[in-house]
Amino acid sequence: MIGANGAGKSTLLRTIAGLHRPVAGTIQLDGSDITHLPAHRRVAAGIVMVPEGRRLFPSLSLEENLKLGSTRSRSGAWDLDRVYQLFPWMAERRGGPTVHLSGGEQQAVAIGRALMANPRILLLDELSLGLAPAVVQRLYDMLPALLATGMSILLVEQDVTQALRVSDWAHCLLEGRIMLSGRPRDLASTEVEAAYFGLSKRAVGGGG
Ligand SMILES: Nc1ncnc2c1ncn2[C@@H]1O[C@H](COP(=O)(O)OP(=O)(O)OP(=O)(O)O)[C@@H](O)[C@H]1O
Ligand SMILES: [Mg+2]
Repeated sequence: MIGANGAGKSTLLRTIAGLHRPVAGTIQLDGSDITHLPAHRRVAAGIVMVPEGRRLFPSLSLEENLKLGSTRSRSGAWDLDRVYQLFPWMAERRGGPTVHLSGGEQQAVAIGRALMANPRILLLDELSLGLAPAVVQRLYDMLPALLATGMSILLVEQDVTQALRVSDWAHCLLEGRIMLSGRPRDLASTEVEAAYFGLSKRAVGGGG
């Protein structure tokens, strides 16, 4: 999901996660309507969000932050050991605070916390926000391994090139509406630019 500042990307993710109630439309999971399901039950159903800005708890240790992810967890293979396998550096710093971690490390903790809930659908809001290119690359390099476990990822990203490179499907949001949808290889860059900057009036899907 790509789109400029203020396009409504976070609002869409938060609505899917159950933190906002839509004024119109429905949210469906496997064909059943979950529009009125509270957020914690959506986590149990496998919809788990990594929020924009990581939102770690500064008074808690790294491991305590991770454990919070499993409070409403779906059962599954993800636990502390598996997160530490994915991010070995975390095991060594498990008892320490998260405030001293770099932005990329904090993002990794936020991802680890989400994985602790055993997501079927992982909502990632602005994975690359405020991070150095090499750090962003490392986080992106990890995504195929997550997808290989059968998890789906809905990635919100302002870095269009990076997002289109890793996605099967892309949607461009503008003022709360999907302006363009398709497989990245089928989308011309001029088309993406027009949808991103609002140069095209064609809205598809009727979202809002
Ligand atoms: N579908 C919508 N209908 C009405 N208002 C919306 C809708 N989506 C978002 N907004 C409003 O637009 C503003 C920006 O939304 P949001 O923060 O979701 O954008 P964003 O794409 O995540 O921006 P950023 O790139 O800065 O993170 C907010 O004030 C939000 O309440
Ligand atoms: Mg946002």
